[in-house]
Amino acid sequence: MCGIFGCHSQQSQNLVEQTLQGLKILEYRGYDSAGIAYTIDNQLKVIKSIGDIDQLKQKVINPPTTTTCIGHTRWATNGTVSVKNSHPHLSTDSSIAVVHNGIIENYQQCVEFLTKHNIKLKTPVDTELIPNMLYLLSHNKHNIHQYLQGQYVFCATDKQSNSLFLAKKGNLPLYIGRSLQTIYISSDTLALPQTVTHIIAMEDMETCEVFDHQLQFYSNGQPITKSWQSFNQSFIASDKNGFATYMEKEINEIPAIMERIINTYRKDSTIIRLINQTRTQFKQTKCIHLCACGTSYHAALILAKIIERDLHMRAIAHISSELTTTTLLNEPAIAIVISQSGETADTLSAMDILQQHKIPIIAFCNVTTSTIAKRSQTIFPLLCGPEIAVASTKVFCAALLVGCLLIKDYNTISCGNFIENTTKTLQFARKILSAPHKIPHRIFIIGKDINHVLALEAALKIKEVTYLHCEGYPANELKHGPLSMVDDNTLSIVFGDDATNASAEIQARGGKVIIIPTPNYQSDPLAFIHQIIPAQIFALDLALTLGNNPDKPRNLAKSVTVL
Ligand code: G6P
Repeated sequence: MCGIFGCHSQQSQNLVEQTLQGLKILEYRGYDSAGIAYTIDNQLKVIKSIGDIDQLKQKVINPPTTTTCIGHTRWATNGTVSVKNSHPHLSTDSSIAVVHNGIIENYQQCVEFLTKHNIKLKTPVDTELIPNMLYLLSHNKHNIHQYLQGQYVFCATDKQSNSLFLAKKGNLPLYIGRSLQTIYISSDTLALPQTVTHIIAMEDMETCEVFDHQLQFYSNGQPITKSWQSFNQSFIASDKNGFATYMEKEINEIPAIMERIINTYRKDSTIIRLINQTRTQFKQTKCIHLCACGTSYHAALILAKIIERDLHMRAIAHISSELTTTTLLNEPAIAIVISQSGETADTLSAMDILQQHKIPIIAFCNVTTSTIAKRSQTIFPLLCGPEIAVASTKVFCAALLVGCLLIKDYNTISCGNFIENTTKTLQFARKILSAPHKIPHRIFIIGKDINHVLALEAALKIKEVTYLHCEGYPANELKHGPLSMVDDNTLSIVFGDDATNASAEIQARGGKVIIIPTPNYQSDPLAFIHQIIPAQIFALDLALTLGNNPDKPRNLAKSVTVL
């Protein structure tokens, strides 16, 4: 949620362009407004814009070379979307600029502190507190954490010193990368350029001064030393592999990812050891709690059903933000948290509760260097590579497959057949479902049992990228209320062949019905995993028909790091 990028070098370089490139990759974290600040002739030059990075780029005309530049792409939390509210924010004397992710919770107290020093804020954005606090703290700035409450990371630069100042409190990620000539700061390693050979992750309560290609770290205001870890950037940001959108590219990657997962989970000795260890843990416990948000929650709902079906034990899927201490009984339990990004604040909060109850945590994570992965006892990687489109597609299928392979051997599945079936589903998807010529006023997606959860996920996909009203519903429940909304402007998508009554009831009221049949692939108990693909493609097609950018739906962000 929001992206921070910064660079610093001893020699003047094209750091403004590099910052814009970094921000472009971070755009999936928020894209309602953006800005940069760089030093030139001992002055700070600030350029901001509403909209995405391309809009900001149009305002950056003939950028000079410089030795420091910081930038930000925003997903508004407090303060509307406007040029004034976008980052960087400046101190009262315009000498310090700050870009920030997270929330300052003692906002009012800080405002009173600043008011006593005759500093008046110009915006309602909490970020503006930070450059002003740094201005007042002056040489004492490594103690900034004593003054600010909440979870945050920020990067500051000032007009004279040609340095960067970083700080982190809580869970939000911030990385420092090193190439031969430049130090880079980024809230996601994805944005670090391929020239970066080493990285350091900022930790809770740390600050860091970056000056002349040197770093000085402090923890709780005391100097500390940290070591560089080697790093190899394998991701090429602009690579859509010939597809028009990341969403389409990522859906098309599903068969290859399924193959990678089956091979790795059957052959990699470290993963096999973890699987055996986890299965022993399952046998010794009474209940498995699964916690996740959004699409990952839908994977959790299905896996809870599979655990109950295959292991005959209790499994409860929780929306992370709804988990409370009272929902956890005092009994032996294990938790599985599922997260593509590994940075979702609601899931991190749920982990706090699980940890208070001393419940061991297993993470299914696509980003294995993430905070959720670091805070878990066991990590099962989802092996999808970067997922850029905001609407999660390939990681949903990956989480289901990893979960199923962990729960049971499924020796009956042949890797070859499973991949062939996934590919077949992908090929047939367009024939089953294509964007309707007449855009429906509302869409119902229905199914029973696992198909009901697939319906919830399909509805979420459609809502995310089309902005149309779409609801996932248990097939037989439709007649207990929502059937009143069905008319000839209603489209219904039915998962599976066992919802014939509901389909007939919809059609009898003029609603159009499209059925995604249960695949009758031989000896494939996990065929439901790829059954979501036609709905993902349908959501994509509909979004494109409506002229929406499916990779960056309005109001959303890929990695939601605020509560
Ligand atoms: C956001 C994204 C969703 C995602 C959810 C959970 O809301 O827009 O696509 O499913 O977060 O994200 P996670 O990274 O924890 O799986």
